[in-house]
Amino acid sequence: MWSRSKHSFFSVILGRCRINGKWNTKLAIPPIGKRHKSFLSTDMPEAANFPNINTYEDLYKFSIAHSDMFWGELAKSRLHWDQPFTRVSECNMHEGKIKWFADGKLNVSYNCVDRHANETPDKLALIWEKDQPNEVESVSYKELLSMVCRIANCLMAQGIKKGDCVTIYMPVSPTAVATMLACARIGAVHNVVFAGFSAEALAQRIQSSSSKMVITTDQGVRGGKVIELKRTVDDAVKTCPSVQTVLVSKRTGANVPMSEKDIDFDEAIVNENSWCEPVSMDSEDWLFTLYTSGSTGKPKGIVHSQAGYLLYATVTSKFVFDIQEGDIFGCVADIGWITGHSYVVYGPLSNGTTTVLFESTPTYPDPGRYWDMVQRIKLTQFYGAPTAIRLLLKHGDSWVKKYDRSSLRVLGSVGEPINHEAWEWYLSVVGENRCTVVDTWWQTETGGIMITPRPSGVDDAIEPAMPMRPFYGIQPALLDESKTEIQGNSVSGACCIKYPWPGMARTILGDHNRFIETYYKPYPGLYFSGDGANRTADGNYQITGRMDDVINVSGHRLGTAEVEDVIDEHHAVAESAVVGYPHDIKGEAPFAFLTLKENQNISAEDLEKELKQMIKEKISSFAIPDIFIVTDGLPKTRSGKIMRRILRKIAVEDTDNLGDVSTLADPSVVKKLVASRKILKT
Ligand code: WTA
Repeated sequence: MWSRSKHSFFSVILGRCRINGKWNTKLAIPPIGKRHKSFLSTDMPEAANFPNINTYEDLYKFSIAHSDMFWGELAKSRLHWDQPFTRVSECNMHEGKIKWFADGKLNVSYNCVDRHANETPDKLALIWEKDQPNEVESVSYKELLSMVCRIANCLMAQGIKKGDCVTIYMPVSPTAVATMLACARIGAVHNVVFAGFSAEALAQRIQSSSSKMVITTDQGVRGGKVIELKRTVDDAVKTCPSVQTVLVSKRTGANVPMSEKDIDFDEAIVNENSWCEPVSMDSEDWLFTLYTSGSTGKPKGIVHSQAGYLLYATVTSKFVFDIQEGDIFGCVADIGWITGHSYVVYGPLSNGTTTVLFESTPTYPDPGRYWDMVQRIKLTQFYGAPTAIRLLLKHGDSWVKKYDRSSLRVLGSVGEPINHEAWEWYLSVVGENRCTVVDTWWQTETGGIMITPRPSGVDDAIEPAMPMRPFYGIQPALLDESKTEIQGNSVSGACCIKYPWPGMARTILGDHNRFIETYYKPYPGLYFSGDGANRTADGNYQITGRMDDVINVSGHRLGTAEVEDVIDEHHAVAESAVVGYPHDIKGEAPFAFLTLKENQNISAEDLEKELKQMIKEKISSFAIPDIFIVTDGLPKTRSGKIMRRILRKIAVEDTDNLGDVSTLADPSVVKKLVASRKILKT
């Protein structure tokens, strides 16, 4: 158990902890959330079955040295098996062949729903925070079971069989979550596509997954705006001959045209039986595919299987976020992303937790939305993205302080490096220096959180703005260009993982070669994440960004995220992105794009001068960008990730072919940037 000591006096220290312009982390960060000595036996009773485990450190070492025993024990106690497994891991990382618990059988929906519906039928499984803040709907485990069964029966009635692929193009809602679980119940493979993608992007994902069915809603509502989902599906399926049926659920009740293939989903479900026998699935049968961008612009259908994925999502949710009985877990990601899969749906539900489905945006109807929700629903964990945290920081503290956040214990960050300013704000303003802040590093491919400050031992401070420590069973390695593992601390290299873990992706749909080439060939026998990382003097991990975001300036390796971190600390700057730019003498030079906070009275010249000075002071003069462009907005995906690929093209003025821009949230941003780049040149 965490003992929750108050650290209110640290807020005073926190304000004064910059020494010579650098964060004095030892002074700044109190030992948050000291663990009670008996944490292993209370939180992880399985540890009693392992020899000589007294501390977190002992358990981590054991999980590495005896990985099969560690995961085998957790798989037995944390999951319900229809047929017990006798084998734990059978993996060959050279060939990208990965199997966990291969001779066991289970059903993921049984694990996420039935076992809790049997024990605590009236406990809330889902709390749906709809777009309008006063509209909340709740679903108990018993009700969720009935929804899942009806939907499962409906899918079967429409001819969906074990192994078929079903594309789900729906906003986050209980129906969408129940549909994912219904697929799992009958062994269909779901392919959730974020309900903000264009018809073209949707069609590409339906075709590539050979989906027989698409499930959608009439319309979506986000930030008060209506999104024509059914119309987008209509456009998409025109080029998707594999699709036999489109199920349409009501979100707004708008009168949408229905064609021959279309079926009223709500009506169909009502008439179905509320019990459906879960199918016993082999551990290695596929659970879902989820498309994610690769360096080529052609999205990759990452495939996850049943038992390993579920176990990893279950165990990481429990231990990283310190989930306790009665908690209300709030991950604000959309189900269209892996974070939504693992930490809105599978992880929390497998643990029997109440999970929140957030349909809105961080600023609708105003920038207090998250914290209003925290107060109303009494969230105990809040898990969000740095981009949103930076955006809210820009709007000021009063939007946060207006609301009671005393229910919160853990604040998580995911998706990109979190800059110091945002991390400090998250800890001190949102978390009142009382909550544990966990920066969590992981990927669609890893299935769950890989590097994160918690769980951890006694008395260890959390370093700001870094994920720090590997999770149980995870052994990171940093590799240099000669593909040699770099030993020791104060080093940086390609972030790889040495040994298999249950949540790892099994393949890329239809392209196992690309899977091997991308993840297992670059550093043979290791999983290559594509990210770079530093191991600090204290042995903690700090992700520097995608490897292609690491640039080499006059022979100095420089993470663009490091420069961004400094730029973001400037009082006038809202957000920045730095990319590499070819330079005659230095090889590469940094090129900075930035947006300003509202109502800033600073000239471009002064701003540039101040930023240059800050970067010189905080990193070195080699890190100073040659060019700064101040702009209205940065090109972002709909999930809020800055599309650096586009910025790199703008930096080198190669803007005729920008590649796939269908995932851009606001394409007009690019035109403005191209124009600013031209002005700068002339
Ligand atoms: C980046 C999201 C730094 C990283 C779960 C990774 C991060 C990619 C962090 C995966 C973090 C994610 N610090 N970078 N805490 N978390 N990333 O597949 O570059 O959407 O490779 O999965 O996001 O993005 P994906």
